[in-house]
Amino acid sequence: MKHLYAQRRNALIAKLNSGTAIFRSAPMSVMHNDVEYTFRQDSDFFYLTGFNEPNAVAVLSPNHEEHQFVLFVEPKDLEKEIWTGYRTGVEAAKEKYGADEAYSIEELDEKLPEYLLAGDRIYYRLGRDEGFNNRIIRHWRKLMATYPKRGTGPVALEDPSPILHPMRLVKTPEELAVMRQAAKIAIEAHNLAMEVAKPGRYEYEVQAEIERVFARNGGSPAYPSIVASGGNACILHYVENQSQMQDGDLLLIDAGCSYQYYNSDITRTFPVGGQFSPEQQTIYEIVLEAQKQAIEQVRPGIPYNEHHDAAVRVIVEGLLDLGLLSGDMDEIIEEEKYKPFFMHKTGHWLGLDVHDVGVYKHGEENWQVLQPGNVLTVEPGIYISPYIKPVEGQPEVDAKWHGIGVRIEDDVLVTAEGGEILTAGVPKLVEDLVRE
Ligand code: GLY
Ligand code: MN
Ligand code: MN
Repeated sequence: MKHLYAQRRNALIAKLNSGTAIFRSAPMSVMHNDVEYTFRQDSDFFYLTGFNEPNAVAVLSPNHEEHQFVLFVEPKDLEKEIWTGYRTGVEAAKEKYGADEAYSIEELDEKLPEYLLAGDRIYYRLGRDEGFNNRIIRHWRKLMATYPKRGTGPVALEDPSPILHPMRLVKTPEELAVMRQAAKIAIEAHNLAMEVAKPGRYEYEVQAEIERVFARNGGSPAYPSIVASGGNACILHYVENQSQMQDGDLLLIDAGCSYQYYNSDITRTFPVGGQFSPEQQTIYEIVLEAQKQAIEQVRPGIPYNEHHDAAVRVIVEGLLDLGLLSGDMDEIIEEEKYKPFFMHKTGHWLGLDVHDVGVYKHGEENWQVLQPGNVLTVEPGIYISPYIKPVEGQPEVDAKWHGIGVRIEDDVLVTAEGGEILTAGVPKLVEDLVRE
């Protein structure tokens, strides 16, 4: 793997021209009092270094005479390591992670100017930590104050994301191998969930089965698992998972696995008791058709909006047929009158982040065009909350529809030929979900 990170750094360096780039590790975050959440490295930092410790800074300095890649890390300290785990340390950071030079993170302020001076700009993404942002800006200000004496050094601060993130958007075969594994584990988990979900059981029991599959395959939840029965499915980010499932409920499960830093993201909706009500089945079939037509728009050369637009058309047509919407289809779409039923987009990029980086649009109506190696989710839904408020002029919703929430989500890889569904191993056809 070490050479992969070097390849990525070199590809980035080739695009930085004469700038110096600074990347910072993710912070530790507090769970409660002095207990912290499990550390998870910042995805950009990980993508470029493979280094998974907190309190580190990576510097890419194309113009520096000796050091193009520098790591600042926490130094070895056996007394502290007894408590918090082993650290790579300064010496091993060079050898293990291929840094041309490594320093203790304590030396950052002292050493950074040398690297910044070698460039004509600073590439740094302003993060949530204002203190650290200000530290970088202070360095920049100081160097600019003495700029007239040299006529060299960084004259601009630029976010590296527009250069780096298009790289992350195209997955390499090595990345895809890991993503396939993340998908495979989640497929197993969803299939097990379908077996164990029964009327009388609690949502958290299903969650436990899913996350057990993740854990025993070396994975973990990519995001808080959503196990939403009945009307809970109408809450998009329902994560309480405390309700007892009832016969007649649909169960919406949105659970994905994080495996070696890459993620899968799957949603299935099925009848807990094995039988759809006529209303549930009608809504389900609309969402299924919307997803099918959306997935057909996942091909190289197709603008990013096409799959969403396809899903919206199917959903609006279906809701019009049912009398849940009324009026002219084009107008409903244009004025987004369907949004009380379908309020989110049909998907997102997927990768090191669940909602992965990468632009969707380059200005008005100029959508990103799909290319081989992109991975995205396709996840249309219809949600008919008991509290649904149709937009003005639209029909009231009959109570028989209340509490139906359906989403179907797959992860799709854009290939040279079309789209490959990475998560096809979880059933979604009505006949596969119905049980006696
Ligand atoms: N579970 C997050 C999402 O589907 O986007
Ligand atoms: Mn998703
Ligand atoms: Mn999801």
